[in-house]
Amino acid sequence: MRFEVNPSALAGGSVRIPGDKSISHRALLFGALADGISNVTGFLPGEDCLSTLAALRAMGVNIERVNDTAVVVHGVGLHGLEAPEKPLDLGNSGTAMRLFSGLLAGQSFSTELIGDESLSKRPMARVIDPLQQMGAKISSREGCPPLHVTGGRDLHGIDYALPVASAQVKSALLLAGLYAKGPTVVREPAVTRDHSERMFKAMGARVTTEGGTIRLDSGTSLKGIQLKIPADLSSATFPLLAILLSENASVELTDVGINPTRDGVLRILRTMGAQIQMVDQRMHGAEPVATLQARASHLQAINVDPALVPLAIDEFPALFIAAACATGTTEFRGLAELRVKESDRIAAMAEGLQALGITVEELPDGARVTGGTFRPGTVDSHGDHRIAMAFAVAATIAEGPVTINNVASVVTSFPGFENCLRELGADIHCKHEV
Ligand code: S3P
Repeated sequence: MRFEVNPSALAGGSVRIPGDKSISHRALLFGALADGISNVTGFLPGEDCLSTLAALRAMGVNIERVNDTAVVVHGVGLHGLEAPEKPLDLGNSGTAMRLFSGLLAGQSFSTELIGDESLSKRPMARVIDPLQQMGAKISSREGCPPLHVTGGRDLHGIDYALPVASAQVKSALLLAGLYAKGPTVVREPAVTRDHSERMFKAMGARVTTEGGTIRLDSGTSLKGIQLKIPADLSSATFPLLAILLSENASVELTDVGINPTRDGVLRILRTMGAQIQMVDQRMHGAEPVATLQARASHLQAINVDPALVPLAIDEFPALFIAAACATGTTEFRGLAELRVKESDRIAAMAEGLQALGITVEELPDGARVTGGTFRPGTVDSHGDHRIAMAFAVAATIAEGPVTINNVASVVTSFPGFENCLRELGADIHCKHEV
């Protein structure tokens, strides 16, 4: 599948953004382990979350889909999961693979976790090593999926300093901690998204957070909750960026999650001169949300503060596009983790930007991107949803038509992305390979 995009004068408007991917995964996983029912609205019906849903159903969890974005999870309690008949296929989802590793390490039965070509290349030692320290037994193919998780192990809590800032690893250890004897303590080198901690607390788990240290006491159980999932700021970034780069359009996005452990993209774009307002700030349960208003802006190059990287970890493809439209040279450092996401995002962005005539100096842990004008051309997304969406946005202000190849993965996080851009006035078409 490919996107064909023609230069477009965006009109802007008001668009709805699908639910938060990270929170949707957690709502299903934690809801499944709870005692009682969880009623979830604002669920993201993206392929990644549907992989999590299917895996839980395969272990006997009743999950009703009331409509596209409303689910009812009938919790089976911490010890109510059943052995699946087949390997659990987690598709493209690194979050699912890592969170399930922690959850399954504590079960009485063994499981096999598999994924697609991209997921099968992603590093899992970061989660296997600490889980083994807790007493789990997990084998892999040289540190990558498929993973075989042996059941019936007695886990014990550990005090673990994460070598790499990762919310996925933190969450996996907390899930395993539900099954461990003694407290589980995770120390973060930098604060990462805290959706697990917020949801655990809302479900009655004994979790405390102090600075970068998270502690889960053993013997804790979860109770079902009512959850209204915010719109995903990571998805909102693409229409937001399209408007910032436009001639004179403006946009309003409602109910977007603005959790301070996720809002690095807003801070970075504002430092570059983006006109973004947050109004009507309020809480959706444990998560803060706001209406985001943005208008066409002149962006200036900056040196991106590496301290903001974990808070904007998924937004760098979009931020590279912003840098390519800014006056001057923007420097990104501290992005080594981007090389092990759904694709090597530094290489994929450098390659695509160069194909469209932008000057990029690739660095081992980042890049220097010099602002310019996008020429017409063809870009490969490397099967990575966020690379595909970033270049689709860039294409709206190119000097001629741009084709983005290999875009089927967009549905992992943002079903309806093309429609959303089209509603804002973009001339974008999705074509199937001939
Ligand atoms: C996620 C955490 C991040 C992020 C991913 C979702 C999560 O990964 O990139 O898209 O839901 O916990 P890391 O924690 O590995 O940085």
